[in-house]
Amino acid sequence: MVAVASSIERAAAGIKSSAVLDFLRKPKQLLIDGKWVPAKSGKTFQTFNPANEEVLALAAEGDRADVDEAVKAARRALEGKWSSIGPHQRAGYLLRMADLIEKHVDELATLESLNNGMAISLANRMTNGAASTFRYYAGWATKIYGETNPSDPSMFNYTLREPVGVCGQIIPWNGPISMFSWKIAPALACGNVSVIKPAEQTPLTALRLGELLLEAGIPEGVVNIITGYGETAGAAIAEHPGIDKVAFTGSTEVGKLILRASTGNLKRVSLELGGKSPNIVFADANMDECLPTSLSGFTTLSGQVCCAGTRVFVQRDFHDEFVERLTTRAAQAKAGDPLDPQTTIGPLVSKEQFERVRGYLDIGKKEGAEPKLGGDVRKGKGYFVDPTIFTHVRNDMRIAREEIFGPVASVIPFKDENDAVLQGNDTTYGLAAAVWTNDVRRAHQVARALKAGTVWVNCYNNIDPISPFGGYKQSGIGRELGKQSIDLYTQVKSVYLKL
Ligand code: NAI
Ligand code: MG
Repeated sequence: MVAVASSIERAAAGIKSSAVLDFLRKPKQLLIDGKWVPAKSGKTFQTFNPANEEVLALAAEGDRADVDEAVKAARRALEGKWSSIGPHQRAGYLLRMADLIEKHVDELATLESLNNGMAISLANRMTNGAASTFRYYAGWATKIYGETNPSDPSMFNYTLREPVGVCGQIIPWNGPISMFSWKIAPALACGNVSVIKPAEQTPLTALRLGELLLEAGIPEGVVNIITGYGETAGAAIAEHPGIDKVAFTGSTEVGKLILRASTGNLKRVSLELGGKSPNIVFADANMDECLPTSLSGFTTLSGQVCCAGTRVFVQRDFHDEFVERLTTRAAQAKAGDPLDPQTTIGPLVSKEQFERVRGYLDIGKKEGAEPKLGGDVRKGKGYFVDPTIFTHVRNDMRIAREEIFGPVASVIPFKDENDAVLQGNDTTYGLAAAVWTNDVRRAHQVARALKAGTVWVNCYNNIDPISPFGGYKQSGIGRELGKQSIDLYTQVKSVYLKL
């Protein structure tokens, strides 16, 4: 314990906020049935600050037995007190949660940045975004309608929209606070209960949000938080016969495992998976906007974003000039101290991701792509990687097909609209895409032709809780956010009443 305590001080060096330090020094437990408890096994695991590789905290290593306990608590809440709580009151809880997130935005964003490595400015934006998501779904709680149907005159037929039940929610490390809000806010708005598992790399902010949920007055058992590993705690959630729905965000590989595991009791499944999104630039685009946004499109969160614009397609005649201008800008965007407000790119989240990105940089070079900028990871402490821009990339190379999850873009020329769409769609993924042009007709035509769940025109990475988000093809199943999440978290009952 002594060793960990001194490591926390090193891991959080420079942090003055007593709220952050107090939270870090406290033991981390699981939230089950409204109480903080250690893992049944007594085991813990280390979580790190990726900027300095020091141990930031020990978290409880929940596994199957803890998931089982949490599912029982969730079921009791669902069938007990929670079911008697009406939509106005549910809206009240979510509004209070939004207020609490805003009240603690600096503390939450600092914890997020310490544990994930993301730039503090981004952590602030994402934390405020989570408050907006809670507020948006607070509005929905009182607007979930059934229908009366024009049945036979001797019949009165209507539908009820009811909660799905116990939801297992497995979230990744790339936007922990944001992902928590995307899962918890709609689930509770619709009257469900949850067993949520944050990623093992970033367990901390979910635990702080759990404290805030209790402070907001959410009854015990409605939200249960199990920290632990994917192969144990995550797999137990995916398989559990007491869980009615599983919502997962993460790799396509694990998404397939979740879908397979769901067959035991035919859970409802929603999956938000990987991407290899095309960012298509026509020569007539406004370059003052396109260049900085295309750069942030693949460097925000060090490129560890499922919708990152990592395949930059540029009209052929304009390709060389674009590459020069993008490279000049990108050369100034060095990865730096995530807690510095000026920093735009922090370290990658973990050693594993660092090695993975390094591996892809080597693969790119072996495949014959040319790093016009970068091409290697940084040496020294922390998992820092500066932007890489590959040219001479063919769309069939591995670096253009597989999700790298680092600040790495492949710039690929195209001939005309048709060629841009063909190459853009030539991927197993379909999460997002962008088109840059000043031609209105072309903007709409290309937006229609792209097989992606989100298409940005003359912008990138814009996400608003009012609009659905999710993937075509192997980028997922279902749509989160917007009113689409209400469909994910409710089921419809048809009632016939003979008159
Ligand atoms: P992952 O898919 O293994 O992890 C995401 C979540 O799933 C974590 O909470 C993890 O504990 C859990 N998990 C892992 N194995 C599981 C299992 N067998 N059953 C149930 N839950 C399980 O992603 P990982 O390994 O952290 O990253 C690998 C790659 O996945 C990244 O390089 C990136 O390409 C992709 N990824 C995509 C994300 C997205 O936003 N779509 C988020 C995270 C990773
Ligand atoms: Mg994994």
